[in-house]
Amino acid sequence: MRKFLTTTTAAALIATMAAGIARAADNVEVLHWWTSGGEAAALDVLKKDLEGKGISWTDMPVAGGGGTEAMTVLRARVTAGNAPTAVQMLGFDILDWAKEGALGNLDEVAAKEGWDKVIPTALQQFSKYDGHWIAAPVNVHSTNWVWINKAALDKAGGKEPANWEELVALLDKFKEQGITPVAHGGQPWQDATIFDAVVLSLGNDFYKQAFIDLDPAALSGDKMKEAFERLAKLRSYVDDNFSGRDWNLASAMVIEGKAGVQFMGDWAKGEFIKAGKKPGTDFVCMRFPGTQGSVTFNSDQFAMFKVADDKVPAQLAMASAIESPAFQSAFNVVKGSAPARTDVSDEAFDDCGKKAIKDLAEANTNGSLFGSMAHGHANPASVKNAIYDVVTRAFNGELNADEAAEELAAAVEGAK
Ligand code: GAL
Repeated sequence: MRKFLTTTTAAALIATMAAGIARAADNVEVLHWWTSGGEAAALDVLKKDLEGKGISWTDMPVAGGGGTEAMTVLRARVTAGNAPTAVQMLGFDILDWAKEGALGNLDEVAAKEGWDKVIPTALQQFSKYDGHWIAAPVNVHSTNWVWINKAALDKAGGKEPANWEELVALLDKFKEQGITPVAHGGQPWQDATIFDAVVLSLGNDFYKQAFIDLDPAALSGDKMKEAFERLAKLRSYVDDNFSGRDWNLASAMVIEGKAGVQFMGDWAKGEFIKAGKKPGTDFVCMRFPGTQGSVTFNSDQFAMFKVADDKVPAQLAMASAIESPAFQSAFNVVKGSAPARTDVSDEAFDDCGKKAIKDLAEANTNGSLFGSMAHGHANPASVKNAIYDVVTRAFNGELNADEAAEELAAAVEGAK
């Protein structure tokens, strides 16, 4: 009898341990900054998808748009020898981690599923290092968008601004209506997001020379001065409480009709959709005046860290789930972004989503697709942060246009 009990207990123990191991193995720990209403709704699509495949999710949210805070927390985790399974990451940050040898290898699943053929090369530049897949791209966002409250636009005559002068005239009309013309949150990454669009509105060549090639003449020249003048003009249309405001609260001002426009990447659309608003009826999406035909993009990717062997299958399963065409459609419809594959139908997308997909394809063909400076797709973090610093000081009136252009060139030179 005693022997029987012992055997049973041992068997039960082994079973429990096995289940425990299975649980640990079928789990992914994910660090990300998707904490706004629209972002969380999109993330839920991924969580549910994985749960349906028997993979549990340990959530590590780090609030802070653009991921600045998330990247600080990540550094601490990795330094402590405790890397998460997967981390939401942008552009050059992925390559920096790969250079450090911290990332895993997704070649097996990428080869089996033919990622090379369906993921745009502009994204592959950040998903691969030394010829190996290290990250799974989830989406393609772009930063040169304007989100307009439709009722306020109608009241102002209903015409979408076609150029800088018309944009300024529209903002003046919003002022006359007694609403805040520009909904904005004063955080460096948000200031930089507006600056992406402003610089692009002065020409594709100029954007490329300044932010991709980091040409000192473009960074300090007359066009850059004009860009800073435009930035200062836009600054004059924000409300008194803009400092430190989160981007999704700025979106809410447009959603609620308290403000006329927000200049923000298409994650803003996720907030409008979450609030039950419809494009064309409640809000209008358009490219920043003067930038139609061009796209400054950023792609959220899940960088896969080196984890214990028993965790690799769940990591690969997560990567595979992310790249499935059905998931790409379901997720990006909610997130406001375009799919990270070229073979996903735009059928399920609303008009803004269809436009995002079409603009992206056209810009890619025409050579007018550029990495977003503000969202880590033009330069490594060191240069990006140097640019942020000058842009924010200019936005806050600490530097005039001439000083800002000069400081920008110097700051970039120092950070290169
Ligand atoms: C971007 C990211 C988007 C969105 C946004 C605001 O960098 O690509 O997915 O999350 O930040 O948090």
